[in-house]
Amino acid sequence: MKIVRISVAILFATVAIAINASAADKATAMKAGEAVYTKYCKTCHQATGAGMPGVYPPLAKADYLKTKDKKIIIDNVVNGLKGEITVNGKKYKGVMTPLPKQYTDEDAANVITYIMNNWGNSGPVITAAEVKKIRKVAGKK
Ligand code: HEC
Repeated sequence: MKIVRISVAILFATVAIAINASAADKATAMKAGEAVYTKYCKTCHQATGAGMPGVYPPLAKADYLKTKDKKIIIDNVVNGLKGEITVNGKKYKGVMTPLPKQYTDEDAANVITYIMNNWGNSGPVITAAEVKKIRKVAGKK
């Protein structure tokens, strides 16, 4: 009986540590992602994530981020996006160029985690491995 109790205690402690570690990872990713956002994305999507009516779609409370598969969001950010899209009931028909090469897969993962979890948004933590699978290498199809 005692052994069972100890094992259960160890199990709970392990789960608690795992949850804490992932919370810390998320906080680190959010911080690093904010730096990339401020340096690159903010010019168009604005510090508030509100974008610019008719020109740059919003990221803050955007139904697009909530309803699209994360693979589509990753693809949009790293490989670029053009053509008509609808965000929060408004149509946009602009061009977003691919993420410049000086930004690593890690930078991309962090900034996508940031936009998906900032301004009251709630989404997943994106990893560099997920970005690597989707990002197109220049010259390769
Ligand atoms: C030069 C301006 C510009 C920059 C810089 C830019 N975007 Fe965009 N972004 C756009 C435009 C324009 C669209 C809409 C494209 C269309 O109409 O098809 C868009 C669309 C999006 C979308 C999909 C629509 C939405 O509102 O959810 C996401 C997500 C996004 N951008 C994220 C980012 C992130 C993250 C960065 C920084 C890594 C970034 N963008 C940098 C102009 C920009």
